[in-house]
Amino acid sequence: MTVPATTPTTPATPGAATAPAAANTPPAPGAATGAARAPGAGAEALRPHAEDAFADELAALAAADDRPRPARWRLSPWAVATYLQGGVLPDGTVITPKYVGPRRLVEVAVTTLATDRALLLLGVPGTAKTWVSEHLAAAVSGDSTLLVQGTAGTPEEAVRYGWNYAQLLAHGPSRDALVPSPLMRAMSEGMTARVEELTRIPADVQDALITILSEKTLPVPELGQEVQAVRGFNLIATANDRDRGVNELSSALRRRFNTVVLPLPATAQDEVDIVSRRVDQIGRSLDLPVAQEGPAEIRRVVTVFRELREGMTTDGRTKLKSPSGTLSTAEAISVVTNGLALAAHFGDGVLRPDDVAAGILGAVVRDPGTDRVAWQEYLETVVRERDGWKDFYRACREVSA
Ligand SMILES: Nc1ncnc2c1ncn2[C@@H]1O[C@H](COP(=O)(O)OP(=O)(O)O)[C@@H](O)[C@H]1O
Ligand SMILES: [Mg+2]
Repeated sequence: MTVPATTPTTPATPGAATAPAAANTPPAPGAATGAARAPGAGAEALRPHAEDAFADELAALAAADDRPRPARWRLSPWAVATYLQGGVLPDGTVITPKYVGPRRLVEVAVTTLATDRALLLLGVPGTAKTWVSEHLAAAVSGDSTLLVQGTAGTPEEAVRYGWNYAQLLAHGPSRDALVPSPLMRAMSEGMTARVEELTRIPADVQDALITILSEKTLPVPELGQEVQAVRGFNLIATANDRDRGVNELSSALRRRFNTVVLPLPATAQDEVDIVSRRVDQIGRSLDLPVAQEGPAEIRRVVTVFRELREGMTTDGRTKLKSPSGTLSTAEAISVVTNGLALAAHFGDGVLRPDDVAAGILGAVVRDPGTDRVAWQEYLETVVRERDGWKDFYRACREVSA
């Protein structure tokens, strides 16, 4: 009844499927690297799961990792933190940073997963909550797909279990007729489960989580049975700071979580680094034609976003109206990615002001009334006067017209 791991139906591309990981993974004694996932599985996926995209790094970490691992963890907490923040292994393997932010915060998040409390990642949109959650699950359990997406319509079955009605009608309630939720599977297999946008889930469905997190069991009254969580099980939930008015977490549920708040990037340089790195990765995974990055242009996008977000120019001299959009790092990434594609297809291959102007306008002006006023003011009082921003000013005027 368990769903088989992705069975590729496409004929194996010769060469492409040969495990590149093998080169830097000597047959490590006792390395418990999962054989369940074929290397390169999902390589053709538009967006491979973290455990596939970074299979080489995870394997290298597992091989180099001689620290104690909690039950059913693929890596030690130290290695999980290194996977997230990057580093160089003794054999020279480079681990790329996935999350750029305070190390302590990552350590607290990882440590929480090794305790009996669940982890709640909180923050404004675009602060990498989903991203961090996926990478944590990939590094800890080797599987980031045991996922429940929280919406106003998330039913209790998504958190507990459902039934295969054909089976149920034919044979009555039985273990075979039961369709486990991702959470139930995580419990019985000792894995990391994920719940996205926890606060969007209706309160009564949220309540189903309390028993799971406090008693570590999921009763199935129809069968007179229960599914007990085995060691290794834990849960990572994400929730949005901005979702006010949506279902608050009950205090009973909140007590089951350690909360880690993900901040916006501390400095403009941090944010430029994050954007450059992700734009590069996304460009390669989408096979976008290569355009010159124009680091100056990326810095400009980040500067505009940060100034409008903070309602203040970088030099602290001019107060600004903040538009209603979040202007998150994630949006900066997509503005630059689109800009690069424009530059490659229709420009001279170098990222220029007119490649990003339309994207910026779209991100800033969400509400055609107030946001447009804020943008016009910013354009005329800040952009126009700034040294070296003439071309950008002109490009913005053109798309704003
Ligand atoms: N501090 C950061 N470090 C690395 N990547 C980041 C950071 N902040 C944002 N990102 C990038 O921005 C995107 C954030 O998206 P996401 O995780 O969906 O945000 P959230 O779930 O918080 O709304 C990801 O692509 C991620 O790579
Ligand atoms: Mg998210």
